[in-house]
Amino acid sequence: MSESSSIDSVLKETRTFAPPAAFTAQANIRSEEQYNTMWQRAKDDPAGFWGDLAREHLHWFRPFDTVLEGEMPETRWFSGGTINASYNCLDRHLETERRNKAAIIWEGEPGDTRVLRYQDLHREVCRFANVLKGLGVEKGDRITLYMPMIPELTIAMLACARIGAVHSIIFGGFSADAVADRNNDAQARIVITADGGWRRGREVPLKAAVDAALEKSPTVEKVVVVRRTGGEVDMVPDRDFWWHELTEGASADCDAVEVDAEHPLFILYTSGSTGKPKGVLHSTAGYLLGTTMTTQWVFDLKEDDTYWCTADIGWITGHSYITYGPLSNGATVVMYEGAPNWPDEGRFWEIVEKYRVSIFYTAPTAIRAFIKWGNQWPEKYDLSSLRLLGTVGEPINPEAWMWYREVIGQERCPIVDTWWQTETGGIMISPLPGITATKPGSCGRPLPGVVPDIVSSDGTSLPANEGGLLVMRQPWPHMLRTLYGDHERFKQVYFSEIPGCYFAGDGARRDEDGYIWVMGRVDDVINVSGHRLSTMEIESALVAHERVAEAAVVGFPHEIKGEGIFCFVTLKDGEGDEALQQELTQHVRDQIGALATPDRVRFAPALPKTRSGKIMRRLLRDIAAGRESVQDTTTLEDLSVLARLRDEEE
Ligand code: WT7
Repeated sequence: MSESSSIDSVLKETRTFAPPAAFTAQANIRSEEQYNTMWQRAKDDPAGFWGDLAREHLHWFRPFDTVLEGEMPETRWFSGGTINASYNCLDRHLETERRNKAAIIWEGEPGDTRVLRYQDLHREVCRFANVLKGLGVEKGDRITLYMPMIPELTIAMLACARIGAVHSIIFGGFSADAVADRNNDAQARIVITADGGWRRGREVPLKAAVDAALEKSPTVEKVVVVRRTGGEVDMVPDRDFWWHELTEGASADCDAVEVDAEHPLFILYTSGSTGKPKGVLHSTAGYLLGTTMTTQWVFDLKEDDTYWCTADIGWITGHSYITYGPLSNGATVVMYEGAPNWPDEGRFWEIVEKYRVSIFYTAPTAIRAFIKWGNQWPEKYDLSSLRLLGTVGEPINPEAWMWYREVIGQERCPIVDTWWQTETGGIMISPLPGITATKPGSCGRPLPGVVPDIVSSDGTSLPANEGGLLVMRQPWPHMLRTLYGDHERFKQVYFSEIPGCYFAGDGARRDEDGYIWVMGRVDDVINVSGHRLSTMEIESALVAHERVAEAAVVGFPHEIKGEGIFCFVTLKDGEGDEALQQELTQHVRDQIGALATPDRVRFAPALPKTRSGKIMRRLLRDIAAGRESVQDTTTLEDLSVLARLRDEEE
């Protein structure tokens, strides 16, 4: 952890911002005592705490018998209970005044819009659920969704949940190869996609990528295609079907099936430091309860809020805080298809003004881009409807936090810096906007039900202000249940590092007020634009190129993306040139997707290794960052390698 340079700068951070009294007065959690009581009860009596919430905030077909059984990592929540996530997000609202409330206010990148009221969304979900049944989908089947940010994506998710099928959403920035890998790992039977989506005025072709993926995905039987852009696509007879043709005659009558509380709701693939992507599997009831409650606590959701999370549904943020959390609470959600700088850099603020957005949730990488584009864009629009701002994905630099507070929040809106992961299912550590005096760069204290600790590598709790490993000492309902098809890996990755604890893979410290300051990943995973990428996967992609002998990939500080991708490459023979750099860059894009595009490719005659042959990544990180290395090089096999790598700098 000594290599984290951010720790020094955040240590100097002493500013705090108390919540405005007017916000506190109306907040869902409005006093320190209320928080303390909730937190302590959840710690001492998790079954009582979560059991009460589950009865009060979710609809059950059959009530559960027990709240929690087993210990981490083998926990079971709400045994005996049967439930349906789609029913909880839709049907139960239809019996209330929410039936004609907007569920989704959607804006396409070209400027087209759609509003789906809860009744409309329910009808479309039922129709599509019947379509899936007609295609032979059964409870437990895995369905791949590879789609743009259009309402059909939400409809498809909830349709899967309605019939007990397990969705596996793949972000549209992944390549055909990545889609094939995930199809195969999940053994998906159906792929739902679109002809394409709009991004910066251009069509991102999705169906074409699916066609290529299907050459290597033997389990996939059928493809459903939404017509979004109207672009040319090849439709394979008896395999490919248009969404609009299938739904046209479909009945809008479809009962939500009762599933066991622990029935899998979805798989979402995320990068790890070794091996292929991990299929994080979430359960139904625990996940739904976690996302439902955290939406109320952290976003202080009220009946009349207009809530906008700018994430893509292809990431966990979109699963938990565009779909399940907000819809379970009957919220009005804004959903936007395209880029923040299309047709110009004011697009987000135009949307905030147009729909009078009150809660806005985005990522540090986006905030850094807004800063770069200049204050003239937000200043052109009326942002007075905003009352709460959120951020997620990576540590936020205090200066970016201050800009967010001043320029977007106009010093009026509390900021919630929410720490969580694909695996945790929902927000774990975050300010509570009505009570927390926020500190720029800190994600505050744990939510009720979350018992974190900062420990050394032998598991000892560390005192205040000492950096260590971030772990969870107690299970929570929305934690992952397994890695799909690889329960051993699940146990090994998360539960073997610190016995008895869930290990998040992040380094952190806790200050004297109990606030947590996350310092970033401690494994070989880099955080690019708020999303985890495995350096090992990028290395594998590079080595798959015929001219590459060896590759080492590290992150380096990047102005907008947080971390950029720096590739050191050793060739089998010959010299590297600019053309080969470009070829390798394109090669990685083809293998993984645009999100993994290398920022720098440097050819090296050799890589620095220890005597046992391990690549010394710390040294490479220093070189990539242009830092003078202060690392211990006593185990380095050949010191001249370093000098040669540095010489390339000029
Ligand atoms: C990793 C999880 C959870 C949705 C988006 C990313 C980093 C996330 C914060 C934050 C500091 C953060 C961590 C974490 N991270 N939020 N508020 N402050 N770091 O999900 O791809 O599963 O990545 O993102 O390193 O482990 P993910």
